[in-house]
Amino acid sequence: MWHYRDFVFGELPCIVTFVSVEVNGQQNIMTASGMFVSDAPPLIAVSISKESTTHRLIPKAKEFVVNIASTDQVDLAEKLGAIHGESIDKLKKFKIPTEPASVIRSTMITNCFANLECKLIHSIKEGNYILYIGKVVAHKIRPRLKPLIWFENHYFRLGKKLA
Ligand SMILES: Cc1cc2nc3c(=O)[nH]c(=O)nc-3n(C[C@H](O)[C@H](O)[C@H](O)COP(=O)(O)O)c2cc1C
Repeated sequence: MWHYRDFVFGELPCIVTFVSVEVNGQQNIMTASGMFVSDAPPLIAVSISKESTTHRLIPKAKEFVVNIASTDQVDLAEKLGAIHGESIDKLKKFKIPTEPASVIRSTMITNCFANLECKLIHSIKEGNYILYIGKVVAHKIRPRLKPLIWFENHYFRLGKKLA
C-alpha cells in the first residue's frame, strides 16, 4: 500500500498548518496541509486521517483553529507531525507558546503566519481521510512572517516571483 508521501501528492507544494482542537478538557494539535475553499463566506478545508487523534476530536468540538505555519516553525511542524496525541498533551510536552482564540475554545499558536478560527460546517468522508471544511469566524495575520511551504518532502520558503 502506498503512503501519501510516496505518491505524487508528496511532490506537490502546499501550505503547512497546525490544526488545534479542544473539547471536554482534552486539547490536541497536529501538522496538516490546508486548502482554500471559498472567500465569501471564508472557508478552508483540512484533510485529516481517520487514524489521527485530531479526527476523533473535531466532530465533538465542532470547531478548530488552522494555525498557518511560518518559516520559523520547521522544527515544530516535524514534532507535531511525528506523534499521536492520544496519550500525551503535545502542547505541554513541547512547551508550545499559545494564546486564547477570540471566538472559539481551541487554543491558537503564537508566532504563526496566521491563525484562522473555524467553525466546522461540513465533513466529507473519502477513503481513509475526512475532509473538514471550516468557516473562518475570526483571524489574525502576522504579515512580517512568511508562510512555510511543503514540497518534495522538504520544507521551503517562497522563492523568486515569476510574474
Ligand atoms: C508536513 C506534514 C504534513 C502533514 N499533513 C497531514 C495532513 O494533511 N493530514 C493528515 O491527516 N496528516 C498529516 N500529517 C501527519 C500528521 O501530522 C501525523 O499523523 C500526526 O501525528 C497526527 O497527530 P494526532 O494523532 O495527534 O492528531 C502531516 C505531517 C507532516 C510532517
